[in-house]
Amino acid sequence: MSDINYNGRVAIVTGAGAGLGKTYALGLAARGAKVIVNDLGGARDGAGSSSSAADLVVKEIKAAGGEATANYDSVATKEGGENIVKTAVDAYGKVDILINNAGILRDKSIMKMTEAEWDLVIAVHLKGTFCVSQPAFAVMKANGYGRMVNTTSGAGLYGNFGQANYIAAKMGIVGLMHSVHTEGAKYNIKCNTIAPIAASRLTEDVMPKEIFEKLKPEFVAPLVMYLSSEDNQDSDMIFNCAAGWYSRTAIMIASGTCIGDGKREVKPEEIRAEWTKISSLDDAKVISNVNDTFGYLTPFLS
Ligand code: NAI
Repeated sequence: MSDINYNGRVAIVTGAGAGLGKTYALGLAARGAKVIVNDLGGARDGAGSSSSAADLVVKEIKAAGGEATANYDSVATKEGGENIVKTAVDAYGKVDILINNAGILRDKSIMKMTEAEWDLVIAVHLKGTFCVSQPAFAVMKANGYGRMVNTTSGAGLYGNFGQANYIAAKMGIVGLMHSVHTEGAKYNIKCNTIAPIAASRLTEDVMPKEIFEKLKPEFVAPLVMYLSSEDNQDSDMIFNCAAGWYSRTAIMIASGTCIGDGKREVKPEEIRAEWTKISSLDDAKVISNVNDTFGYLTPFLS
């Protein structure tokens, strides 16, 4: 089999001035992609901005013989998202790959979280993913080709203490993946989502040093690179990845049980009596569209 390459492909990586995004940008460029290195250059909590983070990554890509252009817009506004995509179209004529990666943290427990902390984290992660995906989708649709990789988090998928804003945003991003997948399928636009764990400024104070040092972003990049390649034909999937471990995770549906005849009242006591079957995930499987849930109701619909 031939090596994966991105010759002739144009990639946007948001938040590519540091951490995971920088690793993706370097990896894609090293294999032939022309890369838009987007980064607002702010602090870990989203405060401030600077062009130096994106500029340094562009410099590194060019020094290694690759092609890259910097963009300093925030993903969190429609105008910013449009300008990021415009930067790619102006510089290289199209967008084939979008890695929605930019992120910040403003962790607080629910009772302590302010409206501003909620709004900013939702704006950068969830709205930001939409703001860049929408104009990128338009270009990909016109060209009949697109690969998007969104970034969720284990905290969003499985829960964590003190991150309600981040967790809600990260699950919203999974929902947005379903939309891009469903609406992009006929244009050959594939959208998948990763839940990475990696050493970066976002995680430097949340894990022991010896573990932190093993969680190199370079272990996450290969999955992102495969998902953004032409070889990848899968879409609408979620993957965990960390330290060389790669695993699919999914929202699933179990067959549950049917109570009554669809006409008579169902009593809460009947729910209690059937709780083991209702709460069981024993035969759970992945479905691809909300309409597939109707298959489980057939006894009541026929
Ligand atoms: P990082 O802080 O090293 O990199 C994030 C980059 O995004 C920064 O360079 C920052 O300047 C940029 N950024 C922030 N707000 C922006 C905005 N509005 N517009 C454009 N750029 C902006 O963090 P890391 O760890 O590399 O995170 C990358 C993504 O991975 C984030 O979405 C994060 O939530 C996610 N993630 C990371 C995990 C980890 O273990 N590092 C765990 C789970 C998810």
